[in-house]
Amino acid sequence: MKANGVYTRSIWRCAASPSEASEAASRAVAIIDQTLLPHGWRTLTLKTLEDAAQAIRTMQVRGAPLIGATAAYGVALALQESDGGDAVLLEALAVLNATRPTAVNLAWALARMRTALLPLPASARVEAAWREADAIADEDVAQNRAIGEHGLELLRGLIAARSSTLRLMTHCNAGWLATVDRGTALAPVYAAFDAGIDVHVLVSETRPRNQGLLTAWELAQQGIPHELIADNAAGFLLARGEVDAVIVGADRIAANGDVANKIGTFMKALAAKAAGIPFYVAAPRSTFDFSCPGGAAIPIEERAGDELRLIAGTSENPENPIAQLRLCPPQTPARNPAFDITPADCVTALICERGVAPASHAGIARLYPEFAHAFPPSSRANPR
Ligand code: MRU
Repeated sequence: MKANGVYTRSIWRCAASPSEASEAASRAVAIIDQTLLPHGWRTLTLKTLEDAAQAIRTMQVRGAPLIGATAAYGVALALQESDGGDAVLLEALAVLNATRPTAVNLAWALARMRTALLPLPASARVEAAWREADAIADEDVAQNRAIGEHGLELLRGLIAARSSTLRLMTHCNAGWLATVDRGTALAPVYAAFDAGIDVHVLVSETRPRNQGLLTAWELAQQGIPHELIADNAAGFLLARGEVDAVIVGADRIAANGDVANKIGTFMKALAAKAAGIPFYVAAPRSTFDFSCPGGAAIPIEERAGDELRLIAGTSENPENPIAQLRLCPPQTPARNPAFDITPADCVTALICERGVAPASHAGIARLYPEFAHAFPPSSRANPR
């Protein structure tokens, strides 16, 4: 999608240094430093395993599919720095796997790299790792495009029931910045906009890290009408009938259809259900954890309390254009779970690259029959 008027992915191959600037020398990866957005724009070059791990840990890259793609490139970087032997490969997989716990796309990408690389001789691994990481990135883009098309069909159904602007609400950032390109929750929005549909998006701020600001930024970059709302405004606006559908992304979907996503998603799902408004979850195959019986088994990341106590913004000081403000005394106790679980029965439907299905064991098995054997028996409890 466009950033500053130029088509850009959120991660791409680049030369490790300007003197090596040829296609053959694309032995590093570039990312957009998302900790600066929307206040500033900076790209960074990842050259080592530690660069990749650090970018994920510090959320310079974030969003489940992008975390997975970055980890895949991190494996290529680790092998390239070394003899490519088993010890290096296994250590790289372990280091990257420990960076963030909730988004299963990370473990999925690393398992895929392991399967592709471990059987190979060490001498063949570097090339194969770059190829596999590129494939993961390219497939993510194709899948998100398909999610957009399936989501668009759903949205067309909603438009048929009304004649004016299609009013959507989203939470966090599940747009192109959170994936390699196109986004998951925002892919249907982009597809609708490209199809000439009059669309408007209410963007929930998403305290404490305010990923909604990233969503507002990327929608503005594409020229899509939107308004930022405080998280606490969502219930009121849903109850007043100011929204036709809520669309969010996911960090992990259990085999019974329970969804882990950014903290605050569950409250929106409850409010949407109470107001009779459809609540959709858009995600690619890499977000499904077929062996996870339900939401209670999903590990939830707990982050530092300073994410609540401090807030970033722009300042008038040219020396320090992005400043942090303290919202409360440093000793104020704070609790900061980064994700929550939306039970399957609050989800109207899942939108994935293969189509739309109920959030249930049966619905997911219909989308991905080749994985139905892996589903835990207890995930069948939900009859939908
Ligand atoms: O903590 P983050 O910013 O990585 O969390 C991101 C989300 O929760 C997104 O909604 C989710 O990863 C879906 S991204 C397409």
